[in-house]
Amino acid sequence: MVIRKSNRELALMREAGKIVAHTHAILQDNIRPGVTTAELDALAYDEVTKHGAEPSFLGYRDYPASLCVSVNEELVHGIPGPRVLNDGDIISLDFGAIYRGYHGDAAITVGVGPIDKKAQELIETTRGALEAAIAQCRRGSYLGDISWAIQSYAESRGFSVVRQYVGHGIGRNMHEDPQIPNYGPPRRGILLKPGMTFALEPMVNVGGYLTRVLDDNWTVVTDDRELSAHFEHTVAITDGEPEILTRL
Ligand code: MF3
Ligand code: CO
Repeated sequence: MVIRKSNRELALMREAGKIVAHTHAILQDNIRPGVTTAELDALAYDEVTKHGAEPSFLGYRDYPASLCVSVNEELVHGIPGPRVLNDGDIISLDFGAIYRGYHGDAAITVGVGPIDKKAQELIETTRGALEAAIAQCRRGSYLGDISWAIQSYAESRGFSVVRQYVGHGIGRNMHEDPQIPNYGPPRRGILLKPGMTFALEPMVNVGGYLTRVLDDNWTVVTDDRELSAHFEHTVAITDGEPEILTRL
């Protein structure tokens, strides 16, 4: 069942979203060669708790950190640790917070120092796919219109979209109905209505779409070890324009 939020709930999700966006801004300011992924995780924890919120990933299914940091061929759920960021890496930061019972969830992918042209193109395409998905977030669109917007945008630029992980409804829980695949035909699935809140999160690969999980049981990598990028926003369907809750 897809839960539609009241205005009071949307107000709280706006607050949660702002805290997530603000934390992402701090993280971005601290990305540079030589920084470890554990240092970024600590920054995220400090920032979110300062604002009276909690990191929603910490302890979720025993996940051991506040932040997911996925480098290069890693696409999602990379665990922060002693790894040092290097020039030319691309890193995805995925972060969620709970504020007064409501969640916000967002991810970005950025280059560390100068990155090669293909990596830049991948990042721009994944960001564009998310924007195309958000543009479908209006009353009267179908859920499938979001999926198709992402798939057609990414594939027409020569990239592939991950099948194994999907976007999701969000609210009192980090993961609510519906699941939102990043591929599939338009004009299918539920009709979008005001008050629905979604975490849209395209994951786009340079090579094939297949993925596998490493021995730490969390880190997801591309099967062919080619680069992957990930962007995510929490978005509300309104009477008018889509409202991006995790953008400052
Ligand atoms: N943004 C991811 C998601 O929507 C975060 C989950 S990571 C976990 O599923 F550590 F919390 F599992
Ligand atoms: Co998510």
